[in-house]
Amino acid sequence: MENEKYDRRYARDGYYWGLKPSPICYRVLQLMPPERNLKLIDIGCGEGRNAVFFARNGYSVTAFDTSPVGLMKASRLADEAGVKIDLFEGDINTVRLTGKYDIIFSTGSLQYIPPDQRHSMFVHYQEQTVFGGFNVHSIIVRKPFIPRASDAEKSAYKWVSGEILKYYHEWKIEFINEGIFDCNSGGVPHQHAINRIIARKVDGVE
Ligand SMILES: C[S@@+](CC[C@H](N)C(=O)[O-])C[C@H]1O[C@@H](n2cnc3c(N)ncnc32)[C@H](O)[C@@H]1O
Repeated sequence: MENEKYDRRYARDGYYWGLKPSPICYRVLQLMPPERNLKLIDIGCGEGRNAVFFARNGYSVTAFDTSPVGLMKASRLADEAGVKIDLFEGDINTVRLTGKYDIIFSTGSLQYIPPDQRHSMFVHYQEQTVFGGFNVHSIIVRKPFIPRASDAEKSAYKWVSGEILKYYHEWKIEFINEGIFDCNSGGVPHQHAINRIIARKVDGVE
């Protein structure tokens, strides 16, 4: 099972995705610094590199993942940093958020939502975002000229370049980009194309 695959990856020494936060975290910090109590949820948090970054910077962080081993490491990382994170085991396709968040955040986990479920999932995430709040996503997109990574999962579904924008037509796009970056996960050098988006929920005027 893919779940066990992540557990096996995370059971090794060190941090599979490293300890450096995803670059988009710094943009969130710039655009919405925690000058008041800001609630953030990290979907598919893995070993916690981003969740711990946000907690260290003063956000109130909740995070979930399907991998118990990843969650254990995230908890350890939070302890080492002297911060508290609300961690729970959950599947992106069944977890329904209770309460509203200032920031709904994901890096590299939206490919587990089947395409026919995406519309309802994003409606839900958007309903659970406060006005003025952000949805922040970093998504692997397929490009015909980039070979599939050797450690790419079979249970992941394809996202196409720009697809994420269609879920945010009515939101203010604070940041969007596409880049190709080198990755050494699994010990085999390869590349990923990534779409990154920061969208703000603005009160509509009809
Ligand atoms: C590419 S990793 C990214 C981890 C983390 N966001 C980061 O950037 O370091 C994808 C993560 O999604 C988790 N995952 C896989 N299927 C999932 C699902 N159905 N629901 C929630 N998380 C899932 C995996 O366990 C893994 O930790």
